[in-house]
Amino acid sequence: MQKFILVIVCGFWSMLSLAQNKVVLHADDAKTQISKHIYGHFAEHLGRCIYDGIYVGENNVIIPQTGGVRNDVIKALKDLQIPNLRWPGGCFADTYHWKEGIGPKNERRHIENLSWGNIREDNSFGTHEFLNMCELLGAEPYLAVNMNSGTVQEAVEWVQYTNHANGTSYLTDMRAKYGRDKPWNVKYWGIGNESWDCGGDMSTDHYISLYRQYATAMTSYGNTEKLFRIAVGPGHSGQYNWTEDIMKNVPARRFEGISIHHYSVIDWSNKGSSSAFTDEQYFKTMQQAWLIEGFVSKNSEIMDKYDPEKRVALIVDEWGGWYDTDPEGKGQLYQQNTIRDAMIAGLTLNVFNNHADRVRMANLAQTVNVLQSVILTKEDKMILTPTYHVMEMYKVHQDALMAPVEVISSDFVLDGKRIPAVSISASIDGAGKMHISLTNIDNTKIQQVEIDINGYQAKTISGRILTAARVQEGNTFESPTKVTPKSFKDYSLSNNKLTVNMPPHSVVVLELIK
Ligand code: AHR
Repeated sequence: MQKFILVIVCGFWSMLSLAQNKVVLHADDAKTQISKHIYGHFAEHLGRCIYDGIYVGENNVIIPQTGGVRNDVIKALKDLQIPNLRWPGGCFADTYHWKEGIGPKNERRHIENLSWGNIREDNSFGTHEFLNMCELLGAEPYLAVNMNSGTVQEAVEWVQYTNHANGTSYLTDMRAKYGRDKPWNVKYWGIGNESWDCGGDMSTDHYISLYRQYATAMTSYGNTEKLFRIAVGPGHSGQYNWTEDIMKNVPARRFEGISIHHYSVIDWSNKGSSSAFTDEQYFKTMQQAWLIEGFVSKNSEIMDKYDPEKRVALIVDEWGGWYDTDPEGKGQLYQQNTIRDAMIAGLTLNVFNNHADRVRMANLAQTVNVLQSVILTKEDKMILTPTYHVMEMYKVHQDALMAPVEVISSDFVLDGKRIPAVSISASIDGAGKMHISLTNIDNTKIQQVEIDINGYQAKTISGRILTAARVQEGNTFESPTKVTPKSFKDYSLSNNKLTVNMPPHSVVVLELIK
Protein backbone atom coordinates (compact mmCIF):
# COMPACT_ATOMS: atom_id res chain seq x y z
CA MET A 1 0.00 0.00 0.00
CA GLN A 2 1.00 3.63 -0.37
CA LYS A 3 2.89 4.38 2.82
CA PHE A 4 3.21 7.99 3.95
CA ILE A 5 6.52 8.06 5.73
CA LEU A 6 6.71 11.69 6.69
CA VAL A 7 5.10 14.92 5.61
CA ILE A 8 7.42 17.72 4.60
CA VAL A 9 6.55 21.18 3.45
CA CYS A 10 9.73 22.88 2.43
CA GLY A 11 9.53 26.67 2.75
CA PHE A 12 11.93 27.27 -0.10
CA TRP A 13 10.02 25.13 -2.55
CA SER A 14 6.62 26.47 -1.51
CA MET A 15 7.91 30.00 -2.15
CA LEU A 16 8.54 28.90 -5.71
CA SER A 17 5.18 27.17 -5.81
CA LEU A 18 7.02 23.93 -6.44
CA ALA A 19 6.66 21.32 -3.74
CA GLN A 20 8.82 18.24 -3.38
CA ASN A 21 7.68 14.67 -2.97
CA LYS A 22 9.67 11.47 -2.82
CA VAL A 23 8.56 8.00 -3.80
CA VAL A 24 10.30 4.63 -3.62
CA LEU A 25 8.70 2.20 -6.04
CA HIS A 26 9.34 -1.50 -5.44
CA ALA A 27 9.11 -2.91 -8.95
CA ASP A 28 10.79 -6.15 -7.79
CA ASP A 29 7.99 -6.74 -5.33
CA ALA A 30 5.07 -6.64 -7.80
CA LYS A 31 3.12 -9.75 -6.75
CA THR A 32 -0.50 -8.86 -5.97
CA GLN A 33 -2.89 -8.64 -8.88
CA ILE A 34 -5.00 -5.48 -9.18
CA SER A 35 -8.37 -7.02 -10.02
CA LYS A 36 -9.89 -5.44 -13.09
CA HIS A 37 -13.12 -5.39 -11.07
CA ILE A 38 -11.81 -2.42 -9.09
CA TYR A 39 -12.73 -0.47 -12.24
CA GLY A 40 -16.42 -1.43 -12.07
CA HIS A 41 -19.56 0.68 -12.28
CA PHE A 42 -23.03 0.95 -10.78
CA ALA A 43 -26.33 1.78 -12.48
CA GLU A 44 -29.54 2.24 -10.49
CA HIS A 45 -33.12 3.01 -11.41
CA LEU A 46 -32.62 6.57 -10.28
CA GLY A 47 -33.16 9.85 -12.10
CA ARG A 48 -32.01 9.56 -15.71
CA CYS A 49 -29.45 6.79 -15.22
CA ILE A 50 -31.29 3.77 -16.67
CA TYR A 51 -34.24 5.29 -18.51
CA ASP A 52 -32.97 7.93 -20.93
CA GLY A 53 -29.29 7.66 -19.96
CA ILE A 54 -28.70 4.00 -20.84
CA TYR A 55 -31.97 2.66 -22.17
CA VAL A 56 -34.05 4.53 -24.72
CA GLY A 57 -36.24 1.65 -25.95
CA GLU A 58 -36.10 -0.81 -28.84
CA ASN A 59 -38.45 1.31 -30.95
CA ASN A 60 -36.43 4.49 -30.70
CA VAL A 61 -35.58 5.70 -34.22
CA ILE A 62 -34.00 9.01 -33.18
CA ILE A 63 -31.23 7.76 -30.90
CA PRO A 64 -29.18 4.89 -32.39
CA GLN A 65 -29.61 1.86 -30.12
CA THR A 66 -29.09 -1.87 -29.85
CA GLY A 67 -31.74 -3.75 -27.91
CA GLY A 68 -32.91 -0.37 -26.65
CA VAL A 69 -29.49 0.57 -25.23
CA ARG A 70 -27.82 3.70 -26.63
CA ASN A 71 -25.03 2.84 -29.05
CA ASP A 72 -22.96 5.86 -27.99
CA VAL A 73 -23.06 4.68 -24.36
CA ILE A 74 -22.20 1.10 -25.36
CA LYS A 75 -19.16 2.30 -27.29
CA ALA A 76 -17.96 4.60 -24.52
CA LEU A 77 -18.25 1.87 -21.87
CA LYS A 78 -16.52 -0.69 -24.07
CA ASP A 79 -13.68 1.75 -24.67
CA LEU A 80 -13.40 1.99 -20.91
CA GLN A 81 -13.11 -1.82 -20.69
CA ILE A 82 -15.91 -1.79 -18.13
CA PRO A 83 -15.32 -5.02 -16.18
CA ASN A 84 -18.62 -5.23 -14.28
CA LEU A 85 -21.88 -3.42 -13.70
CA ARG A 86 -23.96 -3.43 -10.52
CA TRP A 87 -27.77 -3.21 -10.89
CA PRO A 88 -30.65 -2.44 -10.11
CA GLY A 89 -29.65 -0.47 -6.98
CA GLY A 90 -28.85 0.94 -4.45
CA CYS A 91 -31.90 1.61 -2.36
CA PHE A 92 -34.08 0.76 -5.37
CA ALA A 93 -32.91 -2.88 -5.22
CA ASP A 94 -34.70 -3.39 -1.92
CA THR A 95 -38.03 -2.45 -3.54
CA TYR A 96 -37.51 -4.30 -6.82
CA HIS A 97 -39.36 -7.48 -7.80
CA TRP A 98 -37.57 -8.98 -10.78
CA LYS A 99 -40.54 -10.98 -12.07
CA GLU A 100 -42.35 -7.72 -12.83
CA GLY A 101 -39.58 -6.87 -15.30
CA ILE A 102 -39.70 -9.89 -17.63
CA GLY A 103 -42.01 -11.00 -20.44
CA PRO A 104 -43.81 -8.99 -23.12
CA LYS A 105 -43.27 -5.31 -22.45
CA ASN A 106 -46.91 -4.36 -22.81
CA GLU A 107 -47.83 -6.86 -20.10
CA ARG A 108 -45.21 -5.78 -17.55
CA ARG A 109 -46.50 -4.16 -14.39
CA HIS A 110 -45.90 -0.46 -14.08
CA ILE A 111 -44.35 0.41 -10.74
CA GLU A 112 -43.78 3.46 -8.62
CA ASN A 113 -40.11 4.03 -7.86
CA LEU A 114 -40.51 4.27 -4.09
CA SER A 115 -36.87 5.10 -3.45
CA TRP A 116 -36.41 7.85 -5.96
CA GLY A 117 -39.16 10.41 -6.51
CA ASN A 118 -42.15 8.06 -6.84
CA ILE A 119 -41.70 8.14 -10.59
CA ARG A 120 -43.86 5.73 -12.59
CA GLU A 121 -41.76 3.12 -14.43
CA ASP A 122 -43.01 0.77 -17.11
CA ASN A 123 -40.44 -1.93 -16.24
CA SER A 124 -39.27 -2.07 -19.84
CA PHE A 125 -35.68 -2.41 -18.62
CA GLY A 126 -35.53 -5.67 -16.67
CA THR A 127 -33.42 -8.79 -16.22
CA HIS A 128 -33.14 -9.67 -19.94
CA GLU A 129 -32.35 -6.13 -21.01
CA PHE A 130 -29.71 -5.73 -18.29
CA LEU A 131 -28.00 -9.08 -18.75
CA ASN A 132 -28.02 -8.87 -22.55
CA MET A 133 -26.49 -5.40 -22.28
CA CYS A 134 -23.73 -6.75 -20.02
CA GLU A 135 -22.95 -9.38 -22.66
CA LEU A 136 -22.75 -6.66 -25.29
CA LEU A 137 -20.38 -4.69 -23.08
CA GLY A 138 -18.27 -7.70 -22.13
CA ALA A 139 -18.95 -6.78 -18.49
CA GLU A 140 -19.76 -9.16 -15.62
CA PRO A 141 -23.21 -8.46 -14.20
CA TYR A 142 -23.52 -7.87 -10.46
CA LEU A 143 -27.11 -8.26 -9.26
CA ALA A 144 -28.37 -6.77 -6.00
CA VAL A 145 -31.06 -8.91 -4.39
CA ASN A 146 -34.14 -7.44 -2.70
CA MET A 147 -33.75 -8.39 0.94
CA ASN A 148 -36.09 -5.87 2.47
CA SER A 149 -39.42 -6.19 0.64
CA GLY A 150 -38.49 -9.37 -1.24
CA THR A 151 -38.38 -12.98 -0.13
CA VAL A 152 -35.81 -15.74 0.02
CA GLN A 153 -37.88 -17.62 -2.57
CA GLU A 154 -37.76 -14.66 -4.96
CA ALA A 155 -33.96 -14.54 -4.68
CA VAL A 156 -33.58 -18.30 -5.19
CA GLU A 157 -35.78 -18.12 -8.27
CA TRP A 158 -33.78 -15.22 -9.69
CA VAL A 159 -30.67 -17.41 -9.43
CA GLN A 160 -32.51 -20.28 -11.14
CA TYR A 161 -33.92 -18.01 -13.85
CA THR A 162 -30.55 -16.49 -14.72
CA ASN A 163 -28.20 -19.40 -14.10
CA HIS A 164 -29.81 -22.80 -14.44
CA ALA A 165 -29.56 -24.95 -17.53
CA ASN A 166 -32.30 -24.94 -20.10
CA GLY A 167 -35.24 -27.21 -19.31
CA THR A 168 -34.61 -27.62 -15.58
CA SER A 169 -37.87 -25.98 -14.39
CA TYR A 170 -40.79 -23.80 -15.37
CA LEU A 171 -38.50 -20.85 -14.67
CA THR A 172 -35.99 -21.77 -17.34
CA ASP A 173 -38.88 -22.64 -19.69
CA MET A 174 -40.14 -19.12 -19.07
CA ARG A 175 -36.69 -17.71 -19.78
CA ALA A 176 -36.61 -19.57 -23.09
CA LYS A 177 -40.14 -18.42 -23.91
CA TYR A 178 -39.05 -14.83 -23.34
CA GLY A 179 -36.17 -15.19 -25.75
CA ARG A 180 -33.19 -16.63 -23.90
CA ASP A 181 -32.30 -20.31 -24.03
CA LYS A 182 -28.93 -20.52 -22.37
CA PRO A 183 -28.22 -19.21 -18.88
CA TRP A 184 -26.30 -15.98 -18.36
CA ASN A 185 -24.35 -17.47 -15.43
CA VAL A 186 -24.38 -14.46 -13.14
CA LYS A 187 -21.58 -14.81 -10.63
CA TYR A 188 -21.80 -11.69 -8.44
CA TRP A 189 -24.80 -11.36 -6.09
CA GLY A 190 -25.21 -8.65 -3.47
CA ILE A 191 -27.51 -9.71 -0.63
CA GLY A 192 -29.21 -6.50 0.46
CA ASN A 193 -28.02 -2.91 0.17
CA GLU A 194 -27.31 -0.52 3.05
CA SER A 195 -29.43 -2.78 5.26
CA TRP A 196 -28.61 -0.49 8.19
CA ASP A 197 -30.61 2.28 6.45
CA CYS A 198 -32.79 2.25 3.30
CA GLY A 199 -32.42 -1.52 3.01
CA GLY A 200 -34.47 -2.24 6.13
CA ASP A 201 -32.89 -0.29 9.00
CA MET A 202 -31.78 -3.62 10.49
CA SER A 203 -29.64 -4.36 13.49
CA THR A 204 -26.51 -6.39 12.69
CA ASP A 205 -28.01 -9.44 14.41
CA HIS A 206 -31.15 -9.26 12.32
CA TYR A 207 -29.20 -8.69 9.10
CA ILE A 208 -26.83 -11.58 9.79
CA SER A 209 -29.66 -14.08 10.49
CA LEU A 210 -31.49 -13.03 7.36
CA TYR A 211 -28.29 -12.98 5.31
CA ARG A 212 -27.51 -16.57 6.31
CA GLN A 213 -30.97 -17.64 5.16
CA TYR A 214 -30.55 -15.94 1.77
CA ALA A 215 -26.97 -17.05 1.23
CA THR A 216 -27.79 -20.65 2.06
CA ALA A 217 -30.93 -20.87 -0.04
CA MET A 218 -29.34 -19.19 -3.05
CA THR A 219 -26.63 -21.83 -3.27
CA SER A 220 -28.04 -25.00 -1.77
CA TYR A 221 -30.26 -26.27 -4.50
CA GLY A 222 -27.78 -27.76 -6.95
CA ASN A 223 -26.82 -24.45 -8.43
CA THR A 224 -24.53 -25.01 -11.36
CA GLU A 225 -22.37 -21.95 -10.81
CA LYS A 226 -20.43 -21.05 -7.71
CA LEU A 227 -21.93 -17.74 -6.69
CA PHE A 228 -19.89 -14.88 -5.30
CA ARG A 229 -22.12 -13.65 -2.48
CA ILE A 230 -21.56 -10.17 -1.14
CA ALA A 231 -22.77 -9.22 2.33
CA VAL A 232 -23.64 -5.65 3.29
CA GLY A 233 -20.89 -3.91 5.25
CA PRO A 234 -20.61 -0.44 6.73
CA GLY A 235 -21.22 2.93 5.07
CA HIS A 236 -19.14 5.04 7.44
CA SER A 237 -16.43 4.81 10.06
CA GLY A 238 -18.91 4.68 12.96
CA GLN A 239 -19.99 1.22 11.83
CA TYR A 240 -16.87 -0.92 12.12
CA ASN A 241 -18.80 -3.21 14.47
CA TRP A 242 -20.84 -4.21 11.39
CA THR A 243 -17.71 -5.58 9.69
CA GLU A 244 -16.59 -7.21 12.92
CA ASP A 245 -19.98 -8.91 13.44
CA ILE A 246 -20.18 -10.20 9.86
CA MET A 247 -16.66 -11.61 9.98
CA LYS A 248 -17.36 -13.24 13.34
CA ASN A 249 -20.85 -14.60 12.71
CA VAL A 250 -21.21 -15.50 9.05
CA PRO A 251 -19.62 -18.91 8.35
CA ALA A 252 -16.80 -18.74 5.82
CA ARG A 253 -18.66 -21.00 3.38
CA ARG A 254 -21.55 -18.52 3.18
CA PHE A 255 -19.87 -15.40 1.82
CA GLU A 256 -17.19 -14.30 -0.59
CA GLY A 257 -17.25 -10.52 -0.13
CA ILE A 258 -18.29 -7.62 2.12
CA SER A 259 -19.37 -4.33 0.58
CA ILE A 260 -18.66 -0.86 1.91
CA HIS A 261 -19.84 2.53 0.62
CA HIS A 262 -17.96 5.81 0.70
CA TYR A 263 -19.23 9.09 -0.70
CA SER A 264 -17.17 12.29 -0.70
CA VAL A 265 -19.77 14.70 0.67
CA ILE A 266 -18.93 18.03 2.28
CA ASP A 267 -22.06 18.09 4.45
CA TRP A 268 -25.19 15.99 3.93
CA SER A 269 -27.45 18.99 4.64
CA ASN A 270 -25.48 21.39 2.42
CA LYS A 271 -23.60 19.52 -0.28
CA GLY A 272 -22.85 22.52 -2.47
CA SER A 273 -22.90 23.03 -6.21
CA SER A 274 -21.28 20.46 -8.47
CA SER A 275 -19.58 23.12 -10.59
CA ALA A 276 -19.69 26.52 -8.80
CA PHE A 277 -17.73 25.69 -5.64
CA THR A 278 -15.24 27.63 -3.55
CA ASP A 279 -11.65 26.74 -2.67
CA GLU A 280 -12.87 25.84 0.80
CA GLN A 281 -15.49 23.46 -0.60
CA TYR A 282 -12.90 21.97 -2.92
CA PHE A 283 -10.54 21.35 -0.01
CA LYS A 284 -13.32 19.79 2.08
CA THR A 285 -14.22 17.44 -0.77
CA MET A 286 -10.59 16.35 -0.98
CA GLN A 287 -10.51 15.76 2.79
CA GLN A 288 -13.58 13.56 2.42
CA ALA A 289 -12.06 11.73 -0.53
CA TRP A 290 -8.88 10.93 1.45
CA LEU A 291 -10.98 9.31 4.19
CA ILE A 292 -11.26 6.27 1.92
CA GLU A 293 -7.67 5.34 2.81
CA GLY A 294 -8.48 4.98 6.52
CA PHE A 295 -11.86 3.38 5.83
CA VAL A 296 -10.34 0.67 3.65
CA SER A 297 -7.37 0.16 5.99
CA LYS A 298 -9.50 -0.20 9.12
CA ASN A 299 -11.98 -2.58 7.46
CA SER A 300 -9.07 -4.64 6.09
CA GLU A 301 -7.50 -4.75 9.54
CA ILE A 302 -10.72 -6.15 11.05
CA MET A 303 -11.04 -8.67 8.22
CA ASP A 304 -7.40 -9.74 8.68
CA LYS A 305 -8.16 -10.81 12.25
CA TYR A 306 -10.72 -13.38 11.08
CA ASP A 307 -9.45 -14.06 7.60
CA PRO A 308 -5.65 -13.72 7.49
CA GLU A 309 -5.54 -15.62 4.17
CA LYS A 310 -7.63 -12.81 2.64
CA ARG A 311 -10.23 -15.15 1.22
CA VAL A 312 -13.05 -12.62 1.61
CA ALA A 313 -12.93 -9.61 -0.71
CA LEU A 314 -13.59 -6.05 0.40
CA ILE A 315 -15.88 -4.51 -2.20
CA VAL A 316 -16.44 -0.76 -2.39
CA ASP A 317 -19.63 -1.02 -4.39
CA GLU A 318 -20.59 2.63 -4.13
CA TRP A 319 -18.09 5.49 -4.17
CA GLY A 320 -17.77 8.99 -5.61
CA GLY A 321 -18.54 12.67 -5.07
CA TRP A 322 -22.05 13.77 -4.10
CA TYR A 323 -23.22 17.37 -4.50
CA ASP A 324 -26.53 19.21 -4.83
CA THR A 325 -28.64 18.10 -7.77
CA ASP A 326 -28.08 20.31 -10.81
CA PRO A 327 -31.55 21.21 -12.15
CA GLU A 328 -30.12 21.54 -15.66
CA GLY A 329 -29.81 17.77 -15.86
CA LYS A 330 -33.54 17.28 -15.42
CA GLY A 331 -33.11 14.22 -13.24
CA GLN A 332 -32.66 13.28 -9.61
CA LEU A 333 -29.07 13.37 -8.39
CA TYR A 334 -27.82 14.68 -11.73
CA GLN A 335 -24.62 16.63 -11.26
CA GLN A 336 -21.96 18.25 -13.43
CA ASN A 337 -18.57 16.60 -13.35
CA THR A 338 -15.40 18.66 -13.10
CA ILE A 339 -11.69 18.40 -12.44
CA ARG A 340 -12.64 18.10 -8.75
CA ASP A 341 -14.22 14.74 -9.63
CA ALA A 342 -11.15 13.74 -11.61
CA MET A 343 -9.13 14.35 -8.42
CA ILE A 344 -11.50 12.15 -6.38
CA ALA A 345 -11.23 9.41 -9.00
CA GLY A 346 -7.43 9.62 -9.33
CA LEU A 347 -6.73 9.42 -5.62
CA THR A 348 -9.45 6.85 -4.84
CA LEU A 349 -8.32 4.47 -7.57
CA ASN A 350 -4.73 4.81 -6.32
CA VAL A 351 -5.96 3.80 -2.85
CA PHE A 352 -7.82 0.79 -4.27
CA ASN A 353 -4.81 -0.28 -6.36
CA ASN A 354 -2.54 -0.05 -3.34
CA HIS A 355 -4.97 -2.19 -1.31
CA ALA A 356 -5.40 -4.75 -4.09
CA ASP A 357 -4.71 -7.58 -1.65
CA ARG A 358 -8.12 -6.99 -0.07
CA VAL A 359 -10.07 -4.63 -2.35
CA ARG A 360 -11.06 -6.81 -5.28
CA MET A 361 -14.06 -4.94 -6.66
CA ALA A 362 -15.37 -1.37 -6.65
CA ASN A 363 -18.26 0.36 -8.36
CA LEU A 364 -18.33 4.05 -9.14
CA ALA A 365 -21.70 5.70 -8.42
CA GLN A 366 -23.17 6.02 -10.97
CA THR A 367 -22.55 5.31 -14.65
CA VAL A 368 -24.75 7.83 -16.50
CA ASN A 369 -26.48 11.07 -15.39
CA VAL A 370 -26.39 10.31 -11.66
CA LEU A 371 -23.77 11.46 -9.08
CA GLN A 372 -20.13 11.09 -10.26
CA SER A 373 -21.00 9.83 -13.72
CA VAL A 374 -18.57 8.89 -16.43
CA ILE A 375 -21.18 9.82 -19.05
CA LEU A 376 -23.79 12.59 -19.30
CA THR A 377 -26.56 12.58 -21.90
CA LYS A 378 -28.97 15.15 -23.25
CA GLU A 379 -31.44 13.82 -25.83
CA ASP A 380 -29.28 12.35 -28.63
CA LYS A 381 -26.06 13.96 -27.33
CA MET A 382 -23.54 12.37 -25.01
CA ILE A 383 -20.43 13.72 -23.30
CA LEU A 384 -17.57 12.00 -21.51
CA THR A 385 -16.73 13.53 -18.14
CA PRO A 386 -13.31 14.19 -16.57
CA THR A 387 -13.99 11.11 -14.39
CA TYR A 388 -14.41 9.03 -17.56
CA HIS A 389 -11.00 10.17 -18.73
CA VAL A 390 -9.33 9.23 -15.44
CA MET A 391 -10.87 5.76 -15.57
CA GLU A 392 -9.77 5.41 -19.16
CA MET A 393 -6.20 6.50 -18.32
CA TYR A 394 -6.07 4.12 -15.34
CA LYS A 395 -7.45 1.09 -17.19
CA VAL A 396 -3.84 0.02 -17.81
CA HIS A 397 -3.81 -1.20 -14.20
CA GLN A 398 -6.62 -3.73 -14.79
CA ASP A 399 -5.33 -7.20 -13.82
CA ALA A 400 -1.71 -5.97 -13.69
CA LEU A 401 0.57 -6.68 -10.71
CA MET A 402 0.68 -3.92 -8.14
CA ALA A 403 4.14 -2.51 -7.42
CA PRO A 404 4.20 -1.24 -3.82
CA VAL A 405 5.11 2.42 -3.26
CA GLU A 406 6.45 4.34 -0.28
CA VAL A 407 5.56 8.01 -0.46
CA ILE A 408 6.76 11.16 1.23
CA SER A 409 4.16 13.68 0.15
CA SER A 410 4.00 17.41 0.61
CA ASP A 411 0.83 18.70 2.15
CA PHE A 412 -2.00 20.46 0.42
CA VAL A 413 -2.78 23.18 2.96
CA LEU A 414 -5.77 25.44 3.41
CA ASP A 415 -6.41 27.58 6.50
CA GLY A 416 -3.97 25.50 8.52
CA LYS A 417 -5.60 22.19 7.55
CA ARG A 418 -3.46 19.63 5.78
CA ILE A 419 -3.90 16.58 3.61
CA PRO A 420 -1.37 14.79 1.38
CA ALA A 421 -1.15 16.51 -2.01
CA VAL A 422 0.13 13.57 -4.01
CA SER A 423 -1.17 10.05 -4.35
CA ILE A 424 0.41 7.37 -6.49
CA SER A 425 0.08 3.73 -7.48
CA ALA A 426 1.99 1.57 -9.92
CA SER A 427 1.69 -1.78 -11.65
CA ILE A 428 3.45 -4.06 -14.10
CA ASP A 429 1.29 -5.63 -16.81
CA GLY A 430 1.54 -8.98 -18.61
CA ALA A 431 3.84 -7.49 -21.26
CA GLY A 432 6.24 -6.21 -18.60
CA LYS A 433 5.27 -2.54 -19.03
CA MET A 434 5.13 -0.45 -15.90
CA HIS A 435 2.37 2.13 -15.39
CA ILE A 436 2.57 4.81 -12.74
CA SER A 437 -0.52 6.87 -11.95
CA LEU A 438 -0.15 10.08 -9.98
CA THR A 439 -2.66 12.61 -8.73
CA ASN A 440 -1.81 16.09 -7.46
CA ILE A 441 -4.92 17.41 -5.74
CA ASP A 442 -3.25 20.69 -4.74
CA ASN A 443 -4.93 23.40 -6.81
CA THR A 444 -2.27 26.00 -6.02
CA LYS A 445 1.09 24.29 -6.45
CA ILE A 446 3.12 22.36 -8.92
CA GLN A 447 4.24 19.15 -7.22
CA GLN A 448 7.62 17.82 -8.18
CA VAL A 449 7.70 14.08 -7.55
CA GLU A 450 10.96 12.15 -7.51
CA ILE A 451 10.39 8.44 -7.99
CA ASP A 452 13.10 5.91 -7.31
CA ILE A 453 12.26 3.14 -9.77
CA ASN A 454 15.04 0.88 -8.57
CA GLY A 455 15.04 -2.49 -10.23
CA TYR A 456 13.22 -1.35 -13.38
CA GLN A 457 15.52 -0.40 -16.26
CA ALA A 458 13.23 1.78 -18.39
CA LYS A 459 14.27 2.40 -21.99
CA THR A 460 11.27 4.43 -23.10
CA ILE A 461 8.75 6.53 -21.23
CA SER A 462 5.56 8.21 -22.36
CA GLY A 463 2.85 10.02 -20.46
CA ARG A 464 -0.66 11.46 -20.48
CA ILE A 465 -2.16 14.18 -18.33
CA LEU A 466 -5.64 15.36 -17.44
CA THR A 467 -5.94 18.88 -16.09
CA ALA A 468 -7.53 22.27 -16.83
CA ALA A 469 -6.99 25.91 -15.91
CA ARG A 470 -9.45 25.68 -13.00
CA VAL A 471 -10.78 22.84 -10.82
CA GLN A 472 -14.33 23.95 -11.66
CA GLU A 473 -13.91 23.10 -15.33
CA GLY A 474 -15.62 20.16 -16.99
CA ASN A 475 -17.11 19.17 -20.32
CA THR A 476 -20.45 20.58 -21.41
CA PHE A 477 -22.80 19.78 -24.29
CA GLU A 478 -21.63 23.03 -25.92
CA SER A 479 -17.97 22.29 -25.29
CA PRO A 480 -17.73 18.48 -25.02
CA THR A 481 -13.96 18.05 -25.31
CA LYS A 482 -12.70 20.94 -23.21
CA VAL A 483 -11.20 18.55 -20.63
CA THR A 484 -9.49 15.60 -22.31
CA PRO A 485 -6.19 13.80 -21.74
CA LYS A 486 -3.16 15.32 -23.45
CA SER A 487 0.32 14.06 -24.05
CA PHE A 488 2.64 14.76 -21.06
CA LYS A 489 6.37 15.25 -21.25
CA ASP A 490 7.41 17.09 -18.10
CA TYR A 491 9.52 14.29 -16.64
CA SER A 492 13.13 13.23 -16.76
CA LEU A 493 15.01 10.06 -15.91
CA SER A 494 18.48 9.96 -14.46
CA ASN A 495 20.20 7.17 -12.47
CA ASN A 496 16.93 5.29 -12.03
CA LYS A 497 15.31 8.41 -10.58
CA LEU A 498 12.25 9.65 -12.42
CA THR A 499 11.39 13.29 -11.77
CA VAL A 500 7.86 14.36 -12.65
CA ASN A 501 6.53 17.92 -12.48
CA MET A 502 2.82 17.75 -11.89
CA PRO A 503 0.80 20.91 -12.54
CA PRO A 504 -1.81 21.90 -9.94
CA HIS A 505 -4.91 19.65 -9.87
CA SER A 506 -3.69 17.11 -12.38
CA VAL A 507 -3.75 13.37 -13.01
CA VAL A 508 -0.77 11.85 -14.82
CA VAL A 509 -0.25 8.30 -16.06
CA LEU A 510 3.23 7.27 -17.22
CA GLU A 511 4.12 4.19 -19.21
CA LEU A 512 7.63 2.78 -18.86
CA ILE A 513 8.98 0.08 -21.16
CA LYS A 514 12.18 -1.89 -20.57
O1 AHR B 1 -26.16 5.99 -5.13
C1 AHR B 1 -27.28 6.59 -4.56
C2 AHR B 1 -27.72 5.93 -3.26
O2 AHR B 1 -26.72 6.08 -2.30
C3 AHR B 1 -27.94 4.44 -3.31
O3 AHR B 1 -29.20 4.11 -3.77
C4 AHR B 1 -27.77 4.03 -1.89
O4 AHR B 1 -27.29 2.71 -1.76
C5 AHR B 1 -26.80 5.05 -1.34
O5 AHR B 1 -27.22 5.58 -0.15
